[in-house]
Amino acid sequence: MTTLNPGIALANDTESNDPVLTPIADHAERLAAAEAGVAALAATRNDRWYPRFHIASDGGWINDPNGLCHYNGRWHVFYQLHPYGTQWGPMHWGHVSSPDMVHWRREPIAFAPSLEQERHGVFSGSAVIGDDGRPRIYYTGHRWANGKDNTGGDWQVQMLAEPDDDELTSFTKLGMIIDCPTDEVDHHFRDPKVWKTAGTWYMTFGVSSKDKRGQMWLYTSPDMVHWTFDRVLFEHPDPDVFMLECPDFFPITDANGNEKWVIGFSAMGAKPRGFMNRNLNNAGYMIGTWKPGESFKPETEFRLWDWGHNFYAPQSFATDGRQIMYGWMSPFVSPISMEEDGWCGNLTLPREITLGADGDLHTAPVKEVEGLRLSTVELGSMHVEPNQDVTILDDAQSTEIEMTIDLNATNAERAGLRVHATPDDHGTTIVYDAQTGRVVIDRQNVAHGDRGYRAAPLSEEELANGTLTLRVFIDRGCVEVYVNGGRQAMSSYSFSGEGPRAVQLIAESGAMQVSGLTVHELDSIGL
Ligand code: FRU
Repeated sequence: MTTLNPGIALANDTESNDPVLTPIADHAERLAAAEAGVAALAATRNDRWYPRFHIASDGGWINDPNGLCHYNGRWHVFYQLHPYGTQWGPMHWGHVSSPDMVHWRREPIAFAPSLEQERHGVFSGSAVIGDDGRPRIYYTGHRWANGKDNTGGDWQVQMLAEPDDDELTSFTKLGMIIDCPTDEVDHHFRDPKVWKTAGTWYMTFGVSSKDKRGQMWLYTSPDMVHWTFDRVLFEHPDPDVFMLECPDFFPITDANGNEKWVIGFSAMGAKPRGFMNRNLNNAGYMIGTWKPGESFKPETEFRLWDWGHNFYAPQSFATDGRQIMYGWMSPFVSPISMEEDGWCGNLTLPREITLGADGDLHTAPVKEVEGLRLSTVELGSMHVEPNQDVTILDDAQSTEIEMTIDLNATNAERAGLRVHATPDDHGTTIVYDAQTGRVVIDRQNVAHGDRGYRAAPLSEEELANGTLTLRVFIDRGCVEVYVNGGRQAMSSYSFSGEGPRAVQLIAESGAMQVSGLTVHELDSIGL
């Protein structure tokens, strides 16, 4: 039995392995208080950078996407929420839903801490549809081991909840289903993902082993409720990596019918190396193979899902033959300018993960995102003279740009766009950098917040191809860039200065030839 907190018996009943339910508060009261907390922050919100077409909370802090699913004709996105402040704090689950992944509505907050095992937070988790056609929610219950803060480490266990209605507006918690073997674990033990293969339910989650290695553990269950440890599914080869947050695991098939398995995780501890791992922690994947009764066998190195400044803790789910992923645009480097504004953090657009003919994963916005387009202007081809800025939009705060650069007819050192370009000469540049052969988001001249640049690679084949396509989404406080149809993606916050936010074509120390340029004005997603 786990006895970190003397006097409280919380371990699974080892005989029956049944869920353990230990209420400490009225859930409905906790949820009502959380709604009031969000409303109070929303009432004073400053909208200068509040997103128009990215999912965010009305007020308060959010992080990881949770519980993603398509159920009963609606898309559901839950997310980690701190309803009482604009910094990370005791975690709840916020919730939005949509009939089409374009128009969203707010749903009641789904979970607040109300059981002993989740006293200090209802942490991340996922949804899966059972054989009876109804979703289950698996998440991590979190407590601080010393009862108050992170100086004594975490005490984390896996939990189960079931919906009370088909709109997923209220849930019944079943309690703890997997206790933490604290002798084998260095505190971190969280973020369950569940799926079924060949008649057996599987769960994996992230673990820091007792010798501080980042691992994913695998459990099995015949009934989604009673779980047994199977094996370590994967251990990260890098000894610096001490925890794999928000692990993901799914099969994917390429156009020729070849199936692979993909593990995704958010690695804590990896050191920066050249252009890689520049963020505080970094989310990526490996492609390989897996069969029941085995560990995962990687066939690739670790690759980033996204090369921007702000991408973390993505989660994917399978539906209608598609694998769809949302990420969190993590802002974890100070100053986090939006924290002053009554809200903090948004998710990325939904991306479809595909396995390309090049053997790598591609992520492009799901086709539904085109439904956001309100109007479209074709600007055609344009030549930009060396060091000349050409303003194409006077004020773009909810805009998608599709742009093709003719690399053979471009000799600029850096060629592309300046967005959020305000009259005070601030802005963020999104450019092809000929010296490195990479696509760069450069925030050295941004008006507020963290600076620095990030650089996504292009393959030899993409460079030899002679054209580069960029699909750039410009929201009020962030940008997303998709390179060559999703071969690479980049997500970064970009906190503009005062006044209209122009978009300019730029060509530094040489000319740029744009062979295609289309501008779409985008609708709000309704949140
Ligand atoms: C990742 C993460 C998860 C955890 C959650 C807590 O950002 O640390 O591992 O469940 O956030 O909010």
